[in-house]
Amino acid sequence: MGIEFPKGFLFGSATSSYQIEGAATEDGKEDSIWDVFCREPGKIVNGDDGLVACEHYHRYPEDVKLLADLGMNTYRFSVSWPRVMHADGSVNPKGMDFYSRLVDELLAHDIAPWLTLYHWDLPAALPGGWTNRATAERFVDYALAMHDRLGDRVRTWTTLNEPWCSSFLSYSAGVHAPGWTDPVAAIKAAHHLLLAHGWTVQALRVADPDASLGITLNFTPSYPASDSPEDVDVARRVDATANRFFIEPIAHGHYPEDALEDLAGLWPSDLVQDGDLAAISTPIDVLGVNYYTTNVFRAAGPGDAPSGPTPHPSAPDAVQVMRDLPLTAMGWEVDPDGLRRLLVWLHTTYTGATGTGLVITENGAAYDDVADENGFVDDQDRVEYLRGHLTAVHQAIEEGADVRGYLAWSLMDNFEWAEGYAKRFGVVRVDAEQRRIPKASAHWFADLARTGTIG
Ligand code: FCB
Repeated sequence: MGIEFPKGFLFGSATSSYQIEGAATEDGKEDSIWDVFCREPGKIVNGDDGLVACEHYHRYPEDVKLLADLGMNTYRFSVSWPRVMHADGSVNPKGMDFYSRLVDELLAHDIAPWLTLYHWDLPAALPGGWTNRATAERFVDYALAMHDRLGDRVRTWTTLNEPWCSSFLSYSAGVHAPGWTDPVAAIKAAHHLLLAHGWTVQALRVADPDASLGITLNFTPSYPASDSPEDVDVARRVDATANRFFIEPIAHGHYPEDALEDLAGLWPSDLVQDGDLAAISTPIDVLGVNYYTTNVFRAAGPGDAPSGPTPHPSAPDAVQVMRDLPLTAMGWEVDPDGLRRLLVWLHTTYTGATGTGLVITENGAAYDDVADENGFVDDQDRVEYLRGHLTAVHQAIEEGADVRGYLAWSLMDNFEWAEGYAKRFGVVRVDAEQRRIPKASAHWFADLARTGTIG
């Protein structure tokens, strides 16, 4: 028996500005923290950067045609804030024009534009980045300027992509821009990101009551390696910051009690001001879910090396234990059933009661693709990854989770942050000549998008 998705289910793919656009200095675009970070030696594999990327800034008509050819009805992209706004807060009309043309092109091909306002390329000129509360205020101005220009055509607005990455991974682990290793800064960044989200949802709701508004969070469910109290506790501490730290204030209006206790010594006493949590918990229409894997942890023992800078400031003793699961080229374990469990947990614990829908805004895998002489990649490993996870999504729907769409990460191979171009996540191959060549996974996905069924 085939698997059939509900009518109206969204099938599409996702990208982000810095990862594909290139044109990093064209038409008045200013530096983002990623432009700056990439210039620092040793931060990015092979010294790669986003200066050229997939040249999407110039090749967007071809890329939109590709989406249409692949039967996708939705396209999630992000806007580069320093492309559309000058450091002095004024609008850069040429930058705005690019997104306006992109949106028109999508609509001309019957593809719904799904706009993410922030996928990590913060203007470098903002003092203190996300550690500064004023950055959240500037974000609202930027969001409203964007909406002024595109609100008549873009009906789905996501504030932030994966604020855990833009705070803990960026300010505590130092792996992403701006590359700080200061856990207190990470907590400040996390709170200010959430504030930027909440204030923006409030402002957009007033400007556009009918728009669909939301945020995208990344979830990596965290399990203990054994029943020992130490392992159970370390997995809980990772879970508190990695998975509950953002959804809990958004859905329930408070930070997780255990995270507050775990981070007590690091939490600035004046960080959360009156009204902040009310703003952060402003109702949303859609929760975007990014899922790649699950992790098992044990507590470090005397034989383990001390951890370096960590994205888990309350769990520096977390040691990942690998299971007997297939791995992607990122070294991430493939666990499709983790997605089913996650969706059911989110629906039951956070979103179901308020009617907030769930959409998978990212899911996919990097593999060591081998192209034939025509540039074609027969990526059966990626097909199996997608099939497994989409089957899990379908099971979650059957178990009652309100899941409304699935957007594959990513449309095409692109700049994979600290990993540079070495890791390929696309269902479409991008080669050295910037040729776009759909892989076997793209054809498989197109068939699903057209029929709504997995045969
Ligand atoms: C997510 C990011 C996305 C991409 C995938 C692989 O964390 O949102 O840009 O890098 O991972």
